[in-house]
Amino acid sequence: MTKVLFVVSECAPLIKTGGLADVAGALPAALADCGDEVRVLLPGYRSILKHLGKTRVVETYKDLFGGAAKLRACEMAGLDLLLLDAPHLYDRDGGIYNTPTGADWPDNPERFAALCYVAAGIAKSGAAGWQPDIVHGHDWQAGLTPEYLHAMEVATPFVFTVHNIAFHGNTGAERLAALRLDAGRFNADHFEFWGQISALKAGLAGAARITTVSRTYAEELLTPEFGIGMDGILRHRQADLIGIVNGIDEAVWNPAEDPNIKPYTTAAGKAANKKALQKTFGLGKADGPLCVLVSRLTEQKGIDLLLEALPHLLEQGGQLALLGSGDPKLEVALLEAAATHSNVAVKIGYDEALSHRMMAGGDAILVPSRFEPCGLTQLYGLRYGTLPLVALTGGLADTVINASPAALTVGVATGVQFFPITAQALGNAFVRLGELYAQPKVWSAMQRNAMKQPVGWAASAAEYHGIYEALMEAKT
Ligand code: ADP
Ligand code: GLC
Repeated sequence: MTKVLFVVSECAPLIKTGGLADVAGALPAALADCGDEVRVLLPGYRSILKHLGKTRVVETYKDLFGGAAKLRACEMAGLDLLLLDAPHLYDRDGGIYNTPTGADWPDNPERFAALCYVAAGIAKSGAAGWQPDIVHGHDWQAGLTPEYLHAMEVATPFVFTVHNIAFHGNTGAERLAALRLDAGRFNADHFEFWGQISALKAGLAGAARITTVSRTYAEELLTPEFGIGMDGILRHRQADLIGIVNGIDEAVWNPAEDPNIKPYTTAAGKAANKKALQKTFGLGKADGPLCVLVSRLTEQKGIDLLLEALPHLLEQGGQLALLGSGDPKLEVALLEAAATHSNVAVKIGYDEALSHRMMAGGDAILVPSRFEPCGLTQLYGLRYGTLPLVALTGGLADTVINASPAALTVGVATGVQFFPITAQALGNAFVRLGELYAQPKVWSAMQRNAMKQPVGWAASAAEYHGIYEALMEAKT
């Protein structure tokens, strides 16, 4: 049994802004099935601590990056949690990364450095008698951990998972002392990146193994286009870079037992959910497919491409129901499209229950991302018989089988992929989708294939387990 400490900035169902939280919330249980014991170290954000019942204080810190702090242990939603209760860093209104007006918190470098510092301390001395064999950090917020492990002279191996290379966690070199970093290691081999401190680079340089969340993204990361400045160090570390596709929590995303929907086990059961969803979104009946999209609204997600290609969906008699929030310009443009077209409906906001109802009621789930390390909503779509229409990139390339003539003949297609990632190609994909939808037999065969896909965590958790085992063997 390997003891693993996850270091992560969000974790479902406690706190979530995106797929990172889903992974941190579901992977520990899947690893437990492989025999590993995972504890999750999370910042004690105000919204988490406010709603928690009893916790045990397992460690106290007199001065943790500018204030006193406590480490609290508790079990919740099947997770073993270690919460860093540091009021000066996390007890505030607003988002977990952003101020109420949307700017990054100016002290984000300290907020997440503190998390890494505490992780290294737990690796060194344990917490309430529990000491990890492996520290497994996720994204830049956990990136400085190997620097502190080194400073504390702890040999515990560090595994680093990149969920999205676009966030570097950079800050100016004047913060070296404030972040308790060793100025002697402020160089290209460790955490210096174009004159700045880079938490992401520190993680990439200091990890025993680097993983990312799909095989295709692992390859893409080695190119300048997708590596966004980190492709050089990743090529250097290529031998230790492994792509492991994400799974989904099959208990939370299960159409047969989902409390948010009218449960179903075959695609036929979707009809009642579709009707209910159309009502919720104020959409009438239509001849074409009801496309749904649930996402952060950012440049990454290709929402502007969708807006440009929308006429092609509407010409097919299709509909769009979209739930998301983010970039105010995209929000306005989407609301304008909804006001103009009776077959387009948009809800701005974040609504977990509605996202389940959209998976159940939609005919197709759209993921037109410019890049997508893995993507989870297409996986939910597969499980719910809601066929993914996705860009051919990252995890979207690995998890969807395009309805090419060959795949249709063999009977393995599960969705539609488009490439290049342009509005024009997306428009063409809408036409293909409309044609497939107009052939009920073909469409229901694809739904059956989709619902049969293995989208759980079992296989991927076994791969992480293999990495931990190899590192443990190398230690002895
Ligand atoms: P990313 O992590 O890049 O945002 P993923 O597809 O990996 O993309 O994960 C996004 C997760 O966040 C999914 O669980 C999705 O359902 C959820 N999500 C995104 N936006 C919303 C929203 N507005 N309401 C509810 N859930 C959302
Ligand atoms: C990131 C990526 C997304 C991935 C998620 C979980 O937010 O953008 O593609 O699914 O992390 O790994």
